[in-house]
Amino acid sequence: MSGNRVEGKRVLITGAARGMGRSHAVRLAEEGADLILVDICESLPELEYPLATPEDLAETARLAEKHGGQVVTSIVDVRDEAALRAAVDDGVAQLGGLDAAVANAGVLTVGTWDKTTQKQWRTVLDVNLIGTWNTCAAALPHLVERGGSLVNISSSAGLKGTPLHLPYTASKHGVVGLSRALANELGAQNIRVNTVHPTGVETGMRPESLHALLVDGRPDLVPIFLNALPAVMAQAVDISNAVLFLVSDESRFVTGLEFKVDAGVTLR
Ligand SMILES: NC(=O)c1ccc[n+]([C@@H]2O[C@H](COP(=O)([O-])OP(=O)(O)OC[C@H]3O[C@@H](n4cnc5c(N)ncnc54)[C@H](O)[C@@H]3O)[C@@H](O)[C@H]2O)c1
Repeated sequence: MSGNRVEGKRVLITGAARGMGRSHAVRLAEEGADLILVDICESLPELEYPLATPEDLAETARLAEKHGGQVVTSIVDVRDEAALRAAVDDGVAQLGGLDAAVANAGVLTVGTWDKTTQKQWRTVLDVNLIGTWNTCAAALPHLVERGGSLVNISSSAGLKGTPLHLPYTASKHGVVGLSRALANELGAQNIRVNTVHPTGVETGMRPESLHALLVDGRPDLVPIFLNALPAVMAQAVDISNAVLFLVSDESRFVTGLEFKVDAGVTLR
């Protein structure tokens, strides 16, 4: 699929080195976008799975560039507000402006309530919630003149009480509150703010302990994770198509939407 649905739009994407961030980058590039791609490209000791590498980010850039647009990459931790702002300002200077931002970087820790640590709370809230805010804040000075679109990646766990990862579920609900309030504050300036809520997607975000904790430890909770549609997982591109719509002018009167691409898991 390629076309011109976001032709000439300049889009910031965080967590772009792999997984859904890479998919969003490629899908938007296919439809004509220029991109600023950000990723930490380093693993965190608090997580039981590795994060992306510099090679992953370079590969995303290579895949996106094949479609002819301009791509700028930066290795930045979204928790570092000043560094993120500097990277975005630099990318915007290179691309000549900004039209949208996709706050996609996120992390997941796993554990029952009594095993959840302060360190997990701080890390997950810092990356998923404050990192999303930092991304919005870095983008907004470039959007206030002409309007634009902020797409904040939440989760089905941002709409239902998904258990066994309390900080993650709380952070993804937080992203919804942040986005709704921002949508109100920024509507007058023609800036739209929406959230996207994926069901499970097979990516590098794979904490090994979750399966055992759920299936062996709390089988009573398994139904909460089951999709209504007959698919165990969605594909990254399914989520990217929602992001594409929200970045494009096709959604010019859409703001404050919680866009579920969840195979019906939140109906359950
Ligand atoms: N995979 C799923 O089942 C699923 C479901 C719902 C929502 N999500 C959300 O989708 C988004 C993308 O996740 P994914 O599944 O592609 O996971 P992933 O781990 O494959 O990708 C996340 C990317 O973010 C980067 N990242 C992590 N912390 C960062 C930081 N502090 N600063 C900058 N970059 C950072 C990682 O290096 C990685 O490249 C996340 O917000 C996640 O919570 C995922």
